[in-house]
Formats: sequence, C-alpha cells, structure tokens
Amino acid sequence: MQELADPCLGWVRLWLKADDNKPRKLRHSLDGVRRVLTFGGAYSNHIRAVAAAGRERDIETIGVIRGEEHLPLNPSLAYAAACGMRLTYLDRAAYRRKDTPEVLDRLRERWGAVTILPEGGSNAAAVRGCAELPGEIAQPYDVICCPVGTGGTLAGLSAGLAEGRRAIGFAVLKGAGFLEGEVARLQREAYGRVLDNWELQLGYHFGGYARTTPALRAFADERGLERIYVAKMLWGVLDLVRQGAFAPGTRIVAVVTGQPSIPVASWAA
Ligand SMILES: Cc1ncc(COP(=O)(O)O)c(C=O)c1O
Repeated sequence: MQELADPCLGWVRLWLKADDNKPRKLRHSLDGVRRVLTFGGAYSNHIRAVAAAGRERDIETIGVIRGEEHLPLNPSLAYAAACGMRLTYLDRAAYRRKDTPEVLDRLRERWGAVTILPEGGSNAAAVRGCAELPGEIAQPYDVICCPVGTGGTLAGLSAGLAEGRRAIGFAVLKGAGFLEGEVARLQREAYGRVLDNWELQLGYHFGGYARTTPALRAFADERGLERIYVAKMLWGVLDLVRQGAFAPGTRIVAVVTGQPSIPVASWAA
C-alpha cells in the first residue's frame, strides 16, 4: 500500500492498493473446469487473464473475439495464443447477441462440452474471489474504491467489507446505469442478497469505454496511470474529495486494478 501526498486531499487520506482483479475473478471460476470458453474484445484484459490461467492450470481455453480476425495478431491476442488459447471471431452483430441461446448453442455445437464464462468474467464465483481482497488489507480504512467495467469487482469488494465500511465504484463506460442492476444481480447470485454498502459513480466515463479527453490524458500521463480504468477512478476519487463528499479524516483505499504499481513520487511533484 502506498499513500498519496496530493495537496487536493486535505484531511482525507488516500492509499493505493495495487491488485490485479483478473486472477481474483478467475480463482474460483475455473475450479474443476477442463475446458473454458469466454468472450472479449481484441485488447481484452480478461481474454489474456483466462489464457494465462488456462496455461497455468492446464485448462483448455477458447477465446471468442469481437470483430474480424486481423493478422498478424496484436500483442494481446498473440500472448493469448502463445498461452495455448484457441481464438475464434464473431462479427459485431453476432457478438452483441453472444448471450442468447442461439449464439451459445452454435458455439457449443462447434466446441463441444465447455464451461462458458461471460465477458469480463463476472459471475458468482468471480464475486466471491474479489470478496477476499478487503480482508487482506491490514490497515484500517473506511472506504474502498475501484473502477467498474462489468460490476463483478465492485460486487465482491462490497461483500467482503467489514461492518461500517463502504465501497464506491467508478464506471468507465458511458450510460452505465444498468450496472446498478448488474452489481445487485451478481451479489444475489453469489450470496442470495444485495448489500447496501456500495454505490456507483456514473459521471467519470470521459466519453465512454477507452475514450479519453485531453485533460484526462494529461492527468494520466503526468502520474504514470493506466488510462482505461485507473486514471478515471483516481480522477473520480479526487473530484469527490474536492466536492467534500468525504468527512475530514476519512481513510480511503483505491484499488489499482490495471497496473502493477504507481510511481507515487511523480504524483507529489
Ligand atoms: C484493469 C481492470 N480494472 C477494472 C476492471 C473492471 O472490473 P469489473 O469488470 O469486474 O467491473 C477491469 C475489467 O475487467 C479491468 O480490466
């Protein structure tokens, strides 16, 4: 854990906890699985993580990629292929229907008996994996923050919190109101109930998934932050601090999912 010394923080204290959510999400999802099929875009972190976990745990992996095949493979897909993942492609229209029985049946026909993981890997097992993180943070804190793509990480962090603590998720997609329902659905699936200790911030998407603005780009580049998830969350946290959303003395932990560490020194400068 690294503490940030940003003058904007005032009396609020903010620590960064670098923790890759992908392996956590897969930790229980792949138990007992022999062959897994999952979905993602051509630069999907989830596709890479499934491919790596498959290699490590000797599980056959199939990646269903949105769009057309482009050769040579980009570094992300080349890595997945090098891990032994078999890649197949769905055009964008079919990809949008990837959760329908029609598309799933077609994939099952082609690939045989497979366990299917949703895009982003968010299911009840993934939520239970992410719920293990809050208990691993030894120091006291009041609020835990994370970026939100599909909602599994937030659903899990919230579920793992001790009494009195709360979780705030920062959606990186535009029009992500549906994620309220998704986080609730995932908690219901994992635990049979929805917790009331979390909230979603929908105003820090900067135009949508993987979109950015000159201001966000500058914020990220000056501090060495990954732009798609980490910079949006940290911008959001600092903005809420500036708005006075946290009482003086509040101790916040921001989970940095998208990069192994943050050069904190560059931040203070
Ligand atoms: C680096 C990173 N951070 C955060 C998330 C968001 O996690 P979730 O999809 O569980 O909301 C993702 C997406 O999987 C991610 O790749």
